[in-house]
Amino acid sequence: MSIGLGTRFRVAMEDVFTHGAYFRTVEPDNDFDLVRARAADPQKRDKETGERLWVVTVLDGDPEARTAEVKVRIVDVHAEATSEKVAMGWHLDGRVSVVVGTHTHVQTADERILPEGTAYLTDLGMTGSYAGVIGMNKTDVIARFTSAIAKRAEHSSGQVRICAAVIDVDETTGHARSIERLNLGHEH
Ligand SMILES: [Fe+2]
Repeated sequence: MSIGLGTRFRVAMEDVFTHGAYFRTVEPDNDFDLVRARAADPQKRDKETGERLWVVTVLDGDPEARTAEVKVRIVDVHAEATSEKVAMGWHLDGRVSVVVGTHTHVQTADERILPEGTAYLTDLGMTGSYAGVIGMNKTDVIARFTSAIAKRAEHSSGQVRICAAVIDVDETTGHARSIERLNLGHEH
């Protein structure tokens, strides 16, 4: 016996998720071409029943499925306030491998391993030109701050630095072993 392409068969929920499943999100399954054509209703329909199709993400209720999950988790907190990033570090300590901040462009010097095993740094800092104001031409930026004229700022160049962090994570536990902050200058 052969099964032709496109053959439909029913799958029981309990055959796939032996311990049940938890809903996370439900979104319309949109047809890419219809979205691109800006159709008013781009949602896909079932070929036989005509019913709308949905994409449902779930969390598998099987505890063993969860142990096979990703161990190394890296969280980039893209935010302005240092206090918010510190709070996020404590909030996620032990639940993720790494919490590092971005957005301010100015590197902080508070790298550490939190008590439950999460590597933390409030802001990684910018890789780029330090001859200006967080990467933009300093004359342009100062003009914006000192006059009512909103001049478009160009990129700055020179005094290039690499800012980053090297983090060692135990892949079996997902806990961080070390975090080393990098701030490498190249003065030209
Ligand atoms: Fe940003």
